[in-house]
Amino acid sequence: MRVLSGIQPSGRLHIGNFFGAMRRQLQLQAEHDCFYFIADYHALTSNPDPADVAQRIIDVAIDYMALGLDTEKTVFWRQSDVPQVTELTWLLSCVTPVGLLQRCTSYKDKVAQGMSPNHGLFAYPVLQAADILIFNSNLVPVGADQKQHIEVTRDIAIRFNNNYGEILTVPKEHIIESVAVVPGLDGRKMSKSYGNTIEIFEPESSVKKKIMRIVTDSTPVEDPKDPDKCNVFALLKLVASDDELGEWESKYRNGGMGYGEAKKRLAELMIDYFKPYREKRAELEGNIDYVNEVLADGAKRARAVAVETLAKARQAVGLGA
Ligand code: ADP
Ligand code: TRP
Repeated sequence: MRVLSGIQPSGRLHIGNFFGAMRRQLQLQAEHDCFYFIADYHALTSNPDPADVAQRIIDVAIDYMALGLDTEKTVFWRQSDVPQVTELTWLLSCVTPVGLLQRCTSYKDKVAQGMSPNHGLFAYPVLQAADILIFNSNLVPVGADQKQHIEVTRDIAIRFNNNYGEILTVPKEHIIESVAVVPGLDGRKMSKSYGNTIEIFEPESSVKKKIMRIVTDSTPVEDPKDPDKCNVFALLKLVASDDELGEWESKYRNGGMGYGEAKKRLAELMIDYFKPYREKRAELEGNIDYVNEVLADGAKRARAVAVETLAKARQAVGLGA
């Protein structure tokens, strides 16, 4: 089965990204033919400073590789190294009703937040559909926030096939059952747009400082506490063993425990969890040429598939191969 997913290079990856999506994507490599890419064309919709773009791409590549991307088996590339995807985007655009895009909630949310939308942002789901369809993907593992974009992809693929014959594979979404939403330092969803993240690879001292700052309620030390309402406990769930988690749960419920104690242990566990990956990351950072080679090789493998689908689609619409 062909599994495909993309990640935007819009900032250093945080533990919400890891436990919410990446961990599952990396697990899928063992069973499936995975295609993962860095969605740099998509990132341009928010007009990043050109001086930052290249570094962000390489940072995300290193993060993924350090966390266990299997570069032999999995095809891993930079979206813009396979420009065929933009040509397919155009062919798909011509069967995509404007109303379908106007209903997209991620677009509407960004506009509601005051963003002045460019055409790229409006057409974002069509580019995403092209990403998925050009590689004949069967399964697209994403967080729940992307569900609508996969539905739009299916809709576009069906419309194209209805017009031109069975050219495109209609994919299924695989909504990653994350450990619920990972809370950030302030208790809202961890997100780079809220500035409440713990980055996977920020210095250990800073991970610790941030964890000690996590917002908790003001229940006195001696009183019982509800673990299910605590941001620290929500993060402990991600990294503590079942036995240890059970012990913390009792400590919360029995009272006599301060949040500081739980935070200290959380910091230790979080730092230990990512330690081996951190070492791998440092190694890769010292070998950027290798990272670039991996991406170039991935682009070559990805292009081989993309040119075939594009040729079929061009033929189907009457442009010839
Ligand atoms: P951000 O909100 O920081 O901009 P993205 O939207 O780029 O993050 O997230 C990429 C993927 O990581 C999403 O599809 C989502 O599944 C996952 N993700 C991000 N933040 C969280 C979170 N706090 N909890 C669970 N999953 C998350
Ligand atoms: N829109 C996705 C996100 O923000 C990133 C993405 C781009 C993607 N193209 C994709 C995800 C294709 C899955 C498949 O998370």
